[in-house]
Amino acid sequence: MASEQLQEIKQSEKAEVAKYFNGMGFDRWNRIYSDSDEVNKVQRNIRIGHQKTVDEVLSWLKESGTLKEMSFCDVGCGVGSLCLPLAAMGAGSIAASDISESMVAETRRRAELAGIDLSRITFNTSDLETLQGSFHTVICLDVFIHYPQEAAEEMVRHLCGLAQERLIVSFAPYTHLLALLKRIGQFFPGPSKTTRAYTLREKGIILAAKECGFSPSRRKFNQAPFYFSQLVEFHRD
Ligand SMILES: C[S@@+](CC[C@H](N)C(=O)[O-])C[C@H]1O[C@@H](n2cnc3c(N)ncnc32)[C@H](O)[C@@H]1O
Repeated sequence: MASEQLQEIKQSEKAEVAKYFNGMGFDRWNRIYSDSDEVNKVQRNIRIGHQKTVDEVLSWLKESGTLKEMSFCDVGCGVGSLCLPLAAMGAGSIAASDISESMVAETRRRAELAGIDLSRITFNTSDLETLQGSFHTVICLDVFIHYPQEAAEEMVRHLCGLAQERLIVSFAPYTHLLALLKRIGQFFPGPSKTTRAYTLREKGIILAAKECGFSPSRRKFNQAPFYFSQLVEFHRD
């Protein structure tokens, strides 16, 4: 695809995603990523699947060394499902950012409510690709679902540029079964009504990271009905 065409697609996807997560998407996902009873069966299952992904990442991080000596960047942090428990586990510093101002405000609200030490966590409303900085570990969970393959690969390359040692990403993997479910409308039926949901080829994601000197070190597929997420950890070669 021509680079100009790719940029155009990305900009229009991003504008749509930002609008969604500042509006009805905020309300929907804020409920899913909470213990609210105001969720339907599909949303409850997405919550269960997503929690598996978060728990897996937290366990990988915990066993990887002394968290207080590491800096983290949680990209597309949502309402803080990952960065808040990570802060509570004693992470050295965390930069939490999201394209949606409402999501960032909710992360901050939940951090204050949980009594988290706010001197070690910064909040920033920002599009992933304008993020700058250098962090021991960069994490981006369930964000690429909103972008097509080439855009997601470009995002991976940008995130590699922010990561000193490690990058952890998750995405809905392309499989023949998911392609079929998507065609018959059973794949993420809730969110897909309002934003497109893309499945991605893992090979492309891995190649994009490899181009930047990162190799996969761990993988885990997490699922629940209506939730499918491939988690991949990369380390700098
Ligand atoms: C499905 S939620 C996942 C939230 C969080 N990572 C988690 O796992 O709890 C997707 C999040 O990605 C954010 N997002 C989407 N596109 C983004 C972009 N280009 N840059 C930064 N954040 C983005 C959305 O606003 C939303 O909060």
